[in-house]
Amino acid sequence: MTRPRLGVFGGTLVVFVSAVVFVRFLFPFLAQRAVGHHAPLPVPQTIQVWWLLLLVATLAVYVFSSTQTTEDFFAPIRAAVRGESRRWQHLVALAVALIAPLALGAWMFIDALPETRPPALTRQQHPGTSGPSAAPYVGSTNPFRGLGAAETHRALVRGRGLYFRDCAPCHGAKHDGDGPEARAQSLRPVSFRDPGTIAVLVEDAAYWRANEGAAGLPPVSTPWDSAMPAWREELEADDLWRIVLSEYDDSGVRPRVTGVQ
Ligand code: HEC
Repeated sequence: MTRPRLGVFGGTLVVFVSAVVFVRFLFPFLAQRAVGHHAPLPVPQTIQVWWLLLLVATLAVYVFSSTQTTEDFFAPIRAAVRGESRRWQHLVALAVALIAPLALGAWMFIDALPETRPPALTRQQHPGTSGPSAAPYVGSTNPFRGLGAAETHRALVRGRGLYFRDCAPCHGAKHDGDGPEARAQSLRPVSFRDPGTIAVLVEDAAYWRANEGAAGLPPVSTPWDSAMPAWREELEADDLWRIVLSEYDDSGVRPRVTGVQ
């Protein structure tokens, strides 16, 4: 059998470095091409580590498979550490003694440098009503608010029924955002009982959100799309106002009001 030109040590090193380059840099681009994604698809770090550990184990089996290969693998390392024989091995010894500590020092220095980073991208839950999708709703008021007791009761009963039919699967029977469908969503509906959700909205904004759904949200409220449907396609305007009325009433919160009262 002819011995590989690189020797056991060199060969093992080349295989390992090629594997690292492949899994870290090459594979993400191949995966991107294969599925036609817009960005490279990196291999999860855990999979990288396990794959490389398996490779190290395989290489170890090869290196220790015979006395000859073991001897060939360690010979250049031993020669370099002892500063024996050939010139390149002196160079390796010098590199390890000089360059390694310098590189380590430089790495630690760079790592310790203060960094300036752009602020993290945050999604705005309540983007305000200045966007084009909200504009037509600004200033609209709930026609069922401030009516007499009997009419308010009728509006609430109808609103509640529709809420249970159309909204409760996601927003929950208790208005806490824990409906059975919500559990399958990655961007879960908010709890209407939370003081930071519909309680901070003027009623026209709550009505706008129910009408236009996730599709009507401006870019500051993306990139995470939610499953909130646009109800204007399905429900009469009056029915949606009745739902909004009951939504506040049953959640135990009140909409905000504008102006001085
Ligand atoms: C398929 C699930 C689903 C259904 C059904 C649904 N919603 Fe939603 N809704 C959501 C999700 C998810 C959000 C959170 C949206 C976000 O953060 O962008 C949301 C948000 C809202 C908001 C905004 C709350 C806030 O604080 O910003 C209102 C108001 C609302 N829904 C009302 C309704 C009404 C009224 C109905 C029934 C007519 C309804 N929803 C039905 C999923 C749903």
